[in-house]
This record gives sequence, structure tokens and C-alpha cells, in this order.
Amino acid sequence: MHLENLPRFSLAHLPTPIEALENLSRELGGPQLLIKRDDQTGLAFGGNKTRKLEFLVGQALVQGADTLVTVGAAQSNHCRQTAAAAAKAGLKCELILNGKRPEVMIGNPLLFEILGANCHWIEGCQRPTKLCELSEQLRAQGRQPYLIPVGGSNGVGATGYVVAMQELAGQLSNSKLPVDHIVFGSSSGGTHAGLLLGARVTGFNGQLSGLSIDKAKPELDSYAEQVAQLANDCANYIRSEIRLTSDDVTVIDGYKGEANGVIGDRERSAIKLMARCEGIILDPLYAGRAFGTLVDLIRQGRFQREETVLFWHTGGTPVLFAYANELMQS
Ligand SMILES: Cc1ncc(COP(=O)(O)O)c(C=O)c1O
Repeated sequence: MHLENLPRFSLAHLPTPIEALENLSRELGGPQLLIKRDDQTGLAFGGNKTRKLEFLVGQALVQGADTLVTVGAAQSNHCRQTAAAAAKAGLKCELILNGKRPEVMIGNPLLFEILGANCHWIEGCQRPTKLCELSEQLRAQGRQPYLIPVGGSNGVGATGYVVAMQELAGQLSNSKLPVDHIVFGSSSGGTHAGLLLGARVTGFNGQLSGLSIDKAKPELDSYAEQVAQLANDCANYIRSEIRLTSDDVTVIDGYKGEANGVIGDRERSAIKLMARCEGIILDPLYAGRAFGTLVDLIRQGRFQREETVLFWHTGGTPVLFAYANELMQS
């Protein structure tokens, strides 16, 4: 394994803190809850993409790229972080975004503009096709694009979460905190893949569960395979012999909600519970949905009172403001 020698561009404030959620643990009657604050990675409101981008931008710079090109939803946290990473690294940024350019710029679209990204809003057009077309156009203009997949989820990006697991292992052994379960929102799979591989690398022997954000059956059936494949691509990239299969991947589903990007009572009450017990803000689409799932699992008795569960906060807070009306509903 040669993690230390991989191209990496420093973007994050690390290590991110771990906090004990004592009020919440008491409110819910156990288990003991901890939170890992990757909403505090520091780059343009933080979030899980900062860690992936350290390795993606590192590779882009080594390859002589002058532009980062990526794709995402209208409120994509990944696109916001990519635009910020490009600014910091002195690169240009082209974003391919789903939908019409919003009339009122709020949340991440506002930040894409402030960060100086060139935004291509597309409707009814396949994002991968547009990604290839745009890259060809840029090359024809003499530019050197570096393509980043949705969510920064490939073997290179997932490396950020192998390193995150090493960071966590160090923090847990220093503080002598036992952690039985780690739970986190899982969507394009890079965070999940990196954490799983990192757990093998560090010998972490608790249970890792990805809480599916936006998939239901039948799409979900292939998701565990996709995560295992990403973990193996990452293992190749970091030159590790470890290999994973879909049997190693735990995905908890059934919490997708009405539709992607639509928030319901579970997310609303989870966001308020975390805010009112601990003063910590979650976003409605990812961390809020994941935490709502965790609360439901706790209420179903899925964890023992004396166990410790670490909730990995993956960021996304700028999206909160785009959902003000939905959040104000009682
Ligand atoms: C805030 C937030 N949390 C979690 C995720 C899911 O991470 P991944 O795509 O690596 O599965 C995302 C993905 O966009 C996100 O923006």
C-alpha cells in the first residue's frame, strides 16, 4: 500500500472532531451516540466531498489538467465543493447540472456562481453524454479537462475515506472510545467504499452500515455490488491486496422517502431533534435523512443500550436554506 505517496492536494481541516451526543443519547434512551463532524472539513461549508477531492485534484494536477469538469443535481454539494477545490487549486471549473437554471439562486446554486464555476444547466439530456461532449469541446479549445464522476465516487475519490478511517482509528485509540457501529448516508457509494476498505486496512471490527439515501428496489439490488467494485478500484489505486464482495457491504434501505429531493416528516423531525438536543445542523437531503433513519432504527431496538454508534455527518448544510418552506411545515 502506498497511501502516503499518492498525489494529494490539501483542502481539508483535519482531523475533523468527534463529539459525544450526550443529550440525544439520553433523549433516545441509548445507545451511546457519537458524531464525526465531516460537515467541518472547512472547504466552502465542508462536507464529505472535500476528502475525496484532495485525491482527485491531486491527480488532476499531476496530469496537467487546467479544468475540473463534473456533474450533479441542482443542489449538488459535490459540485459546490468541486468549484471551491478548483478555485483553491487555481483551476477552472465546469459544472453540468440537472434542470433549469433556478430563478432564485439559493443554497448551492448561489455558491456555484460565487465560486466562479461555469454552469451548464441541462434538461432531459443524459449527464454522461453531456460530460463527454463538453470535454471534447474543451479539448478542441486547447483546454485540459479532468473529469470527475457523480459524487466524486471512483477509486481515486474513495481514497479520501480510506484515509478518513485511518484518522478515526487514531482518534478512537487515543480516546479509548469503543465504537460498535458506524452509520452514514450512502448515495453514489464513494464514501461507503472508502470507509469499508479503510475498516479492513485499519482492522476496525465494528459494523459499518450505509443508510441508502435515494435508492429503492430494484436499483438497490446492484448497489452493494457497485460499492464493492468501487472499494476494489480504490484498493487497486492504493496498491492494497484487499478485495471486497457485495456480501461485505451493508446497505439499510426503506427510507428513500417520497422521491429524491422531497423531504418528509422523518427528515423534518430528525433535523429539529439534532438541532434542539445538540445545536448541530443537518441538511434535509443527506445527513438529515440518514439521521432520521438512525433514529427510526434506534426506536425499533436495532442497537443495544450499552452499544456505541458513531453517526458520520457528511455535510450538505447549505441546502437547508433552499428547503425553508418545507422545514417550517409542522
Ligand atoms: C451531504 C452528503 N452526504 C452524503 C452523500 C453521499 O455520499 P456518497 O455519494 O459518497 O455515497 C452526499 C452525496 O452527494 C452528500 O452530498
